[in-house]
Formats: sequence, C-alpha cells, structure tokens
Amino acid sequence: MNIITVPRAMAVWSRRLHREGVTIGLVPTMGALHEGHRALIRKARLSCDALVVSVFVNPRQFGPAEDLTRYPRPFAQDRALCAHEGVDVLFAPSREAMYPPGFQTVVALQELARRWEGTVRPHHFQGVATVVTKLLCLVRPHVVVFGQKDYQQALLVQRLVEDLNLGARVVVHPTVREPDGLALSSRNVYLTTAQRRAAPVLYRALRAGWAAIRSGIRSEAQISRIMHDTVAAEPLAQVDYLALCDARTLEPLRRAAGKVALLGAIRIGKVRLIDNLLVTVPAKKRTGGRIRLGEQRSD
Ligand code: PAF
Repeated sequence: MNIITVPRAMAVWSRRLHREGVTIGLVPTMGALHEGHRALIRKARLSCDALVVSVFVNPRQFGPAEDLTRYPRPFAQDRALCAHEGVDVLFAPSREAMYPPGFQTVVALQELARRWEGTVRPHHFQGVATVVTKLLCLVRPHVVVFGQKDYQQALLVQRLVEDLNLGARVVVHPTVREPDGLALSSRNVYLTTAQRRAAPVLYRALRAGWAAIRSGIRSEAQISRIMHDTVAAEPLAQVDYLALCDARTLEPLRRAAGKVALLGAIRIGKVRLIDNLLVTVPAKKRTGGRIRLGEQRSD
C-alpha cells in the first residue's frame, strides 16, 4: 500500500490512473477506523480498480468547543486496517498541506446545511463541504462511499457533487451497528461504561418512531412524542433533536408519507450521538400493507 501525504502527489497519482483508464474509489474518513469504515472500504472495493482511503482530521468542521484536539488518531492501526483490506493508497495529508498559509476558499451549501446538525453545529457542514470538495478534486474518484449514519452529510455530498458537476458516483452504505443497536462511530470510545449502556436509547427511540408509523400513526406530533418519551426514560440522555422529515430534502414533515427519515441527535454527558432510520410509508394507510424500514441505496 502506498502512503501519500502530499496533495500534489495525490493529484499526480490520480491523473496517471485516469490516463490509464483505471477506475478509482474513495472512502473519505477522519481515521480511528472501525468496522463501519471497513464496510465502506469493502463496498468501495467492489466498484473500482484502485481504492484510496483518506485519513484527515479536518479542523474546519469542528466548532471551537468541540473535540478537535482529543479526537482519536490511532494512525498505525488505521494503516494496518487499510493494508489488510487491500487499499491501494492511504492519503494522509497534514493540516498545513491541506490548508496552507493564504488558504481562503470555502464551499457552503444553503438550506440543506442549515437544518438539524447545522442548527447545533453552525459551521460544521461548510468545513465538510470544503474538505470533501478538495478531496474529490485531488483524488478524482469515479465512486465515493459514505456511511448512512451521517445521513445529512451524505445528502449534502450528493447535492455538492451534482451542483458542482464533480462527476463521482456517491454511494451511501447502511449504518453498521453494535448488537444492541448503537451505530458505530469513532466517538463511541469517549463513552464511559455507564454511558455506553445508555447509548442505544437513541436507536430504540428511532425504532419506536418507526413502530408507531407501522401501527398506522402518521402525525409528526405523535411520532415525535413517542421518540422523546423513549429518550426521557434514560436519565443520562438529553435530546438535541428527534425529527420526522422528508428523506430527500430533510424538510420537517407534519405527517409521515412517502420516503421519510427519522433523524435523531442526543447527548450523553459530553458525547453527542447521531443516528437515523429511513422509512418508506405508503401514501394511504392500507390494512395489512407493508412499511419498509429502508436503508438508503443510491447505487
Ligand atoms: O464523515 C467523516 O468522517 C468526515 O466528515 C469526512 C467526510 C471525512 C470529512 O472530513
């Protein structure tokens, strides 16, 4: 496996492969790779000849009070996982290489970036959009794979790629979970034993919302109440938001219909957890009709 740390060298590598007609896949990460990342890597591996994993803890997507300095950086472990999965290039630039003195450009999306995570983390998506654009320009992948756990991020990248004609196919891979439902995340290592026990309450709340829809409830007020009540039963957890929204635009809905997303973010101590479920709801309630608990497949 080739380790590239210099952006210009990454661009040269990708230009050469494009000339040779080789298809390139990219999995962008901030490192601290876990089984969720492994699933993204394996998914990308299936759709390309040469696979790049980027490991870059992007300072521009962290707020001033967030965990940039303590974010886990187990580089040797990440390198071993990538080598084991047959990754061709591990792209691991430094902060100075990605944002040299004089760097001024930002990429910002509008409505989609302002909702949900955007209300709690105002500059987060500008940081994500800027770094993802840079990565896509350097690696020029044919396919780029993101996890559904960060559903708003995945939608935003799909929008960005389309709006700027960046040409990559964006694949969203279903969330990988612990046996008790907790979505895998590099930040789960921050949880104490008691917090870890409490953490699956977010998934339980989303499942309760889904069960409510399945039982015929369509009103957002009722679905939201059921999700909030589930989290309220866990004393360590506090809700940031629990919402029913349109799965494509993330606009809040008053009634569940069509493709909807149940989105949630909670805090357990200082740890923030996010998660989501996608549900396809038939337009009219049909007795015995099936409601699919969807997992986003954009490929
Ligand atoms: O999801 C992440 O790990 C990051 O937001 C990403 C997409 C690698 C951009 O820094």
